[in-house]
Amino acid sequence: MIPSSIVILTGAGISAESGLSTFRDIGGIWSKIDYRDVATPEGYARNPGLVHDFYNRRRRKMKSVQPNAAHHALARLDGAFDGDFLLVTQNIDDLHESAGARRLVHMHGELASALCEACGQRSRWPGDMSVNSQCPHCATVGRLRPDVVWFGEMPYHMDRIYAALGGCDLFVAIGTSGSVYPAAQFVEEAALAGARTVELNLEPSENHALFDDSIQGQATKVVPQFVDDLLARMGARAG
Ligand code: APR
Repeated sequence: MIPSSIVILTGAGISAESGLSTFRDIGGIWSKIDYRDVATPEGYARNPGLVHDFYNRRRRKMKSVQPNAAHHALARLDGAFDGDFLLVTQNIDDLHESAGARRLVHMHGELASALCEACGQRSRWPGDMSVNSQCPHCATVGRLRPDVVWFGEMPYHMDRIYAALGGCDLFVAIGTSGSVYPAAQFVEEAALAGARTVELNLEPSENHALFDDSIQGQATKVVPQFVDDLLARMGARAG
C-alpha cells in the first residue's frame, strides 16, 4: 500500500539511543523524580526553583547529544514524501529539527523555548532559566516558565493534529509507551479515518493491540528499515 497522507507520532524512545532518558523504562526519569513536583502547574507553584533546575539539567544535556539514525530517517521521509505529512512529537528535545525534519509539531512544547506568564509571549531560551530570568518581550522578571506542557495542561497544536489524523492513510507510532493521553488515543483516531496503523517500539506498548502491525526493535534499526521500504515502494510506483 502506497500512502497519500502520513502521520507519525514519536515519544522518548526515539531519542533513547542519542543518550536522552525515557520516562517509564527501568531507570527512567519518573523513577528518579516525582512528576508531580516538576511536571505539573501545582509543582511549579510550590517550588519553581526545583522545576527550573529539572529543565535546566535536561536543556544542558540536550546540547551534548546528536540526532540518531531514526531521527535522520524520518527527516528523509519528510523531505522525500510529496503527500501530506505531519511528524507529531511528544518530545521536548530538538533532535527531529536538528536532523532536518520540517513538517513537525511539538505537542508537549520545547525545552529551548520560554513562555512568559505575564505577556504570553514565547522566546528561544537555550540556556538556564530561573525565577530571576527576564522576559525579552515585556521585561518582566520572575514570570518566565519552561514552554513545556505539564500534566493537566492542554497539549499544543491539537487542531492541526486531529485534522491530520482525520485524513491520513498511514499512522506510525515510534518509541512511545502509549500511556499518556491524548497522544495514546491518536491510533484510534487514525484507524477511524481508515488508516493503516503501525507501531515501531523496543517492546509492545500498552496499546499495541490497537495497531494493525507492531514491529519490535531499536529505533535506530527498525525506523530506517521502515522508511527505506516505504520510499522504495513509492519509488517503484513513481518509476
Ligand atoms: N528504540 C525504540 N523504542 C524504545 C527505545 C529504543 N531504543 N528505548 C525505549 N523505547 C520505548 C520503550 O519501550 C517505551 O515504550 O520507548 C517508550 C518510552 O515510553 P515513555 O518513557 O513512557 O515515554 P513517552 O511514551 O514518550 O511518554 C509520553 O509522558 O511523561 C510524559 O510528557 C512526557 O512526553 C512524555 C509522555
